[in-house]
Amino acid sequence: MAKNSNYVAAENRYEKMHYRRTGNSGLLLPELSLGLWHNFGDNDNFKNGRNILKCAFDNGITHFDLANNYGPSPGAAEENFGKILKKDFKNYRDELIISSKAGYGMWPGPYGDNGSKKYLISSLDQSLQRMNLEYVDIFYHHRPDPETPLEETMGALDLMVKQGKALYVGLSNYQPSEAEKAFEILKDLGTRCLIHQPKYNIFDRWIEDGLLNLLKISGVGSICFSPLAQGILTDKYLSGLPKNSRAIKESPFLTSNKVLETLPKIIALNKIAKDRNQTLAQMAISWILKDNRITSVLIGASKTEQILDSVKAIENTQFSEEELNKINEITHNNKPL
Ligand SMILES: NC(=O)c1ccc[n+]([C@@H]2O[C@H](COP(=O)([O-])OP(=O)(O)OC[C@H]3O[C@@H](n4cnc5c(N)ncnc54)[C@H](OP(=O)(O)O)[C@@H]3O)[C@@H](O)[C@H]2O)c1
Repeated sequence: MAKNSNYVAAENRYEKMHYRRTGNSGLLLPELSLGLWHNFGDNDNFKNGRNILKCAFDNGITHFDLANNYGPSPGAAEENFGKILKKDFKNYRDELIISSKAGYGMWPGPYGDNGSKKYLISSLDQSLQRMNLEYVDIFYHHRPDPETPLEETMGALDLMVKQGKALYVGLSNYQPSEAEKAFEILKDLGTRCLIHQPKYNIFDRWIEDGLLNLLKISGVGSICFSPLAQGILTDKYLSGLPKNSRAIKESPFLTSNKVLETLPKIIALNKIAKDRNQTLAQMAISWILKDNRITSVLIGASKTEQILDSVKAIENTQFSEEELNKINEITHNNKPL
């Protein structure tokens, strides 16, 4: 186990990042946030995880996103994050926005899944224990649950805020019609929805079909996950399948077949990125940030070099009409990834 550190964050960290307002709230989020879905589990290298988090913070990434089930094993990412917070970030809690979620299966029996008040309230208590925190900054319902009345699920989110266990609440993976109803219920309860967390990337644009406009008119922020389509929208697979990549690990969410099928498009997109003097990862992130309805882009990383590469995306978020048309031609008729 690594020794306690005397980590001191880079003094110029806030000069390296831009911050955007989250909907109509008082909260600013960095244009890039970091998620701990992968690379912080039982079998991942703890020191590498520490370095990733320190590198992110040194570059102005103040927001770390977790969920009860991130691991493997489920809960391990929160436990490891709690240890890293204690070792490296104990002087920085008030400079961090830490989020967690519940909504997918977490423990056996009828109370460890979906959207009941029973599940959400006890799950947040467990997350706080694992991370050794008194409160999270944002708590999300991770996915909609059509079997539980929306009033009950939103009531649970409202209760967490009133108990002081979450400062803000959000929704993830909700379709526009469900989200709109949820925003109304929360508003009536006196706890506004801060933010929505959907998947969004060059290949998967479902949020352009109503959700982004709804968020804008509702004053709710947006943080987009899997901006790099889990690593496909980078140059890493251009010359084969690298050892230790997510596709080689055959994650159920990213198979090597999926990567190989997409390769011709990746080669073509990489050329546009090069012409823009960007890496493909940078271009994929910039492409999301070009839209001012987006609050933050939620990346993952397996090494510090990837963070250092990805943060440069904020330097060029303008696209010409011609570039956008070329990107659209390449991704036309794409199956969402
Ligand atoms: N709400 C939800 O339902 C939901 C679902 C999924 C994710 N999320 C959140 O979103 C976060 C990000 O998701 P994601 O990990 O799928 O995001 P992503 O940014 O699309 O993919 C991250 C992966 O891309 C590769 N990568 C990152 N930067 C790179 C670079 N500069 N150059 C080359 N490769 C690079 C790495 O793959 P290798 O590991 O292969 O090196 C990394 O693990 C999660 O951690 C989680 O917090 C939420």
